[in-house]
Amino acid sequence: MTDMLDCFQQLPFISTKTNGRQEYAAHRNMAAKYAAELFENSFAIVKVPEFVQSRFKRLAENFSRIDRQVRENFCFIKKTDGFMPHGTTFARDLQKTDLCQTFNYWHCYRGTHSQYAFSRDPFYTTVASCEVEVHDLCQAILAEVADHYNYEHPLDIRDDSYVQFNMYPETMKKADRKYLQDIHEDGHLITYVKPNAPGLLIYARGMEQLINMEPDEAIVMTGSLLTELTDGDVPPLYHAVLDLNLPAARASLIYNVNALYTAMPSVKGRTIQMRAIANQHHAEFWQYPYHSV
Ligand SMILES: [Fe+2]
Repeated sequence: MTDMLDCFQQLPFISTKTNGRQEYAAHRNMAAKYAAELFENSFAIVKVPEFVQSRFKRLAENFSRIDRQVRENFCFIKKTDGFMPHGTTFARDLQKTDLCQTFNYWHCYRGTHSQYAFSRDPFYTTVASCEVEVHDLCQAILAEVADHYNYEHPLDIRDDSYVQFNMYPETMKKADRKYLQDIHEDGHLITYVKPNAPGLLIYARGMEQLINMEPDEAIVMTGSLLTELTDGDVPPLYHAVLDLNLPAARASLIYNVNALYTAMPSVKGRTIQMRAIANQHHAEFWQYPYHSV
């Protein structure tokens, strides 16, 4: 495992504090700025509302208390929904499973969820309430992306996007693994990530950079579906999670943003089979096609 001090000495370190991003503004008002940063850098550091900050802490505290039987029962693997069984999430390499436990929440499946007692559990209801906030921000950012290209086709994301909560317990670590999650790009339009600690590495402008975020900050990264939508104009951000061997377990709240239209135009008018392309990316991560039954 990599020693944290070694990492800090070897890697360019982005401290958002020193970038002077202290101001808080309602996220809708900030969406244009965030979209501009995505065009420039393939990532944007975004403000996290106090509502989500406080609930994120509760998620990390409550996750490990959820009973094994409940996890096994609330598992809808064909829909990439609920608690993912151990060993079913990868960054492409089957030999390198993500060293985390994963819970996925889809807003569009909440009707099915309501049939399960777990849908009344504080962990579930907290994830669901965070989804509302994070969705609004991501939809606003994509509206700015559409404006930038004068793109008129609908870009509705709610029913095709999902929250992912990852917890990286000490017991899942492996001495021969440098990364908790290996280097990859996401097969989504954008991905929102709110972590509880450093460890996220990004590869932007040919440099490997360790990102440090303040407690009220998250990162939005570009994915390969956005590259498809923009005819290659916006590249995906490659990233990994480094094992910094920190005392507290790593946790991250993620929102994977998709728009799974069967066919839709690119910003230049080329027809994109977006759903098929997204499913191809999803299959590369060893997942079933989206919305499988
Ligand atoms: Fe990722």
